[in-house]
Amino acid sequence: MTQSADTVPEAGPPLARFPMRRTCPFSEPGEYAALRADEPVSRAALKVNGKPAWLITRHDDVRQVLGDPRVSSNLKLPGYPHQFHIPEELLAQVRLMLLNMDPPQHTAQRRMLIPEFTARRVRELRPRIEEIVEERVAAMLAAGGPVDLVTALALPVPSLVICELLGVPYEDHARFEEWSAAMMNHDLSPEEYGAAVQALDGYLDQLVTRKESEPGDDLISRFLEKNRAEPVADHADVVTMARLMLVGGHETTANMIALGVLALLEHPEQLAQLRADPGLLPNAVEELLRVFSISDSGTARVALADIEIGGVTIRAGEGILALNNAADHDETVFPDPGMLDLHRKEARAHLAFGYGIHQCIGANLARVELEAVYGILLRRIPGLRLAADPDSLRFKDDAMVYGVHELPVTW
Ligand code: HEM
Repeated sequence: MTQSADTVPEAGPPLARFPMRRTCPFSEPGEYAALRADEPVSRAALKVNGKPAWLITRHDDVRQVLGDPRVSSNLKLPGYPHQFHIPEELLAQVRLMLLNMDPPQHTAQRRMLIPEFTARRVRELRPRIEEIVEERVAAMLAAGGPVDLVTALALPVPSLVICELLGVPYEDHARFEEWSAAMMNHDLSPEEYGAAVQALDGYLDQLVTRKESEPGDDLISRFLEKNRAEPVADHADVVTMARLMLVGGHETTANMIALGVLALLEHPEQLAQLRADPGLLPNAVEELLRVFSISDSGTARVALADIEIGGVTIRAGEGILALNNAADHDETVFPDPGMLDLHRKEARAHLAFGYGIHQCIGANLARVELEAVYGILLRRIPGLRLAADPDSLRFKDDAMVYGVHELPVTW
């Protein structure tokens, strides 16, 4: 089948609307399986503005798009599939962050950051990460249940870890967590979104200025030093980079911590297997990342040339959403994809961290944090259980990154 945007009938059935909702937290939106089977590269209308975008739902097609140098991540390009409303004036002022840069600018900045996130570097951070988790779990035990796992553990752990890595004082966490949560919310007005970005940038601007004259032993200071020797970013770029790391570094991991614990508690037979064999933990982390694929539509692109994906021609300038949650439930790669199977041998083939040049730079760090939290929590609190009716839990259906708002637990 060869089809292109031009051949999509104007007056056909209305386009499906995106985003589509997950009806069960442990599975993909119901529409995805049919799309993979019948129309794996399909047109949809974005709920926010009715504009069309291509949805890519099969695992190999998602990889092909994300690995293609003829697609751009630049959110200023007219066809970019925005998922919340950003007024033109605001968009014109937006400074591109690593996530939205194309080569060669992207290559130069990413190269400077890579040494901070290698498997070896993250291994060195592991003892401190475990210490942070131990302290938080001890505080939970001292307080006694029931507690909200999100505020007691899921948020503070990645927040403390990324603050220490970047050199951001943790005392300020309440402020930047609020701004960061606002920036992930599809429902905010453009003014509210703009105000959150401005507030966080104002805070980080002061911090970066301080580090320019008084460097510490942290990522931002090391970046500034390397940047002096081989400039790839100006002051405002460093502020934007720090914002991306701070927001990307804690919001995503926090959501995975809470959702992962929920999934384990709701699958007692799997939980028992994990308790019996802690060696299963690394694979369990991959399987949980796959099942939730929390940043499903975080991989938005614009075609820079006509490209063919799965027999469909996507024209230059058109927006693309390479859906990693759809890819991670592709039955040709993950048999019985809806089942949580901590032993799943192909779990690591998931695309929850994306693929290609923008693949998550913090993936190694996130994996260690998740292993530390799940491992220590289950060992220290063997009687952990939900303290709420699962049906009463509120999920982040409208956010850029999926998650659960509160997770009451006791023991
Ligand atoms: C479970 C946790 C996480 C998930 C699911 C996740 C997911 C993702 C995804 C899907 C992308 C690719 C976006 C694209 O292709 O357009 C990405 C990129 C990125 N992530 Fe993560 N992430 C996580 C944790 C982290 C952490 C802990 C950091 C800390 C530094 C981080 C920093 C970044 C950065 C800086 C990028 C942009 C990389 C680039 O453009 O080259 N992420 N992440």
